[in-house]
Amino acid sequence: MIMKVTKTNKLLGDVYISGSKNAALPCICAALLTKEQVKLRNIPDIEDVNNLLAIIKDLGVRVKKEEDEVIINAKKVKTVVTNKLVSKLRGSYYLMGALLSRKRKVEIIYPGGCEIGLRPIDFHLQGFKDLGCEVIEEDIIEITKKIDKESIIQFPTISMGATINLILASCLGNTATTIINPSLEPETICVIEMLNKMGASIIIKDDKIYIKGVKKLSKVEHSIIYDRIEAGSYLFLAGAIPNSKVTIHNINYKHLEIIIVVARKIGIKITKEDNRMIVEGPPKINKTNILIGAYPFFPTDLQQILTVVLTKSSNSKIEDSIFPNRITHLKELRKMQAYVYDYNRTIYIKKSTLKSSKVKATDLRCAFALIVAGAMANGTTYIKDIDYLFRGYTKPVEKLKSIGLNVEII
Ligand code: EPZ
Repeated sequence: MIMKVTKTNKLLGDVYISGSKNAALPCICAALLTKEQVKLRNIPDIEDVNNLLAIIKDLGVRVKKEEDEVIINAKKVKTVVTNKLVSKLRGSYYLMGALLSRKRKVEIIYPGGCEIGLRPIDFHLQGFKDLGCEVIEEDIIEITKKIDKESIIQFPTISMGATINLILASCLGNTATTIINPSLEPETICVIEMLNKMGASIIIKDDKIYIKGVKKLSKVEHSIIYDRIEAGSYLFLAGAIPNSKVTIHNINYKHLEIIIVVARKIGIKITKEDNRMIVEGPPKINKTNILIGAYPFFPTDLQQILTVVLTKSSNSKIEDSIFPNRITHLKELRKMQAYVYDYNRTIYIKKSTLKSSKVKATDLRCAFALIVAGAMANGTTYIKDIDYLFRGYTKPVEKLKSIGLNVEII
């Protein structure tokens, strides 16, 4: 699929943020932990969610989706997960933790994920072993809970996926699990809140997570948090185009704290009003140096988009300590005459006047970053493989057009 983006001199209007992809995926898998009904609200209409729902339907789970609500009944659930869609989305790894808790075993093909560097799952598998599981890795991963072992887990680095997966795997049973250095991202908290409403016993104290296995989890209705990465994406898009004035709705300021700090630091005007923010694009963008890290640091998922905006400043740099190889967008930006390069795990950005070109999206966030570049560049930019965008952004073309961006799928 190809998207055509033409330079846009001003963005005006309203954008309504949808539910968070990275919270929705684990919450859908958490629904497998009970035989009773689970209703999830504010579910984003994105490919990754629709693919995960198709996978659990394949496992015999009843799924009913109406608008942004999903009702899940996992009275029965199979433990052999071989649907090819698993290799399309990284979030399918949460099925391991959920099925280990519910059925004490799972066989699954390797999960997929955006090419933003290596995407290992060794932290997850080592964590399951720490819980007393046997893990056999061949062309399929086979995990069986042999004993219920009380465990204290410390990941080599903070990992959102592994944290949530080990929480899912520890919820049911009769032992206790402690995670010493967990991810405390808003998405992780959203899953914990859902599980505790279902009757789980999960406590966060002094930045550690304590999970006590319980016998059974019950029905729940739960709303997915709004997507802070989608909000940040539209924030930086509006901030990149001078004289823009875009109101972004459904904002949780706690989740966007560092994103707003950085946006204001580089000169973007942000006015807070209840749960919406008015973003105005400044005539110029100030340089800055950013260290990407786990929450509450600046999120890696906005690194590529910020790189594009910083081409309007001189001598900025970004170090992505989570995905140091999240640099495939640089080659595409250089096709647009951007002075961007990476050296020693750091991205260096010099003031550039972007020129339209034919470019290629290499992952979900790179796709949005190239749209920002196309809106800034003189002329019309053609973005190949824009399909990635629909994995994680709800109705992106409609939302972009509603603020006046000159885009179309051709
Ligand atoms: C999740 O990926 C998100 N994906 C990513 O969002 C997000 O960028 C990332 O967390 C932020 O940390 C989903 O939630 C589906 P990690 P995940 O485990 O779980 C290393 C997007 O665009 N690591 O937090 O894969 C890893 O390589 C996507 O929405 C291991 O080495 O990330 C990274 O360097 C992109 N072994 C670091 O840990 C493991 O077993 C943190 O990764 C797991 C992770």
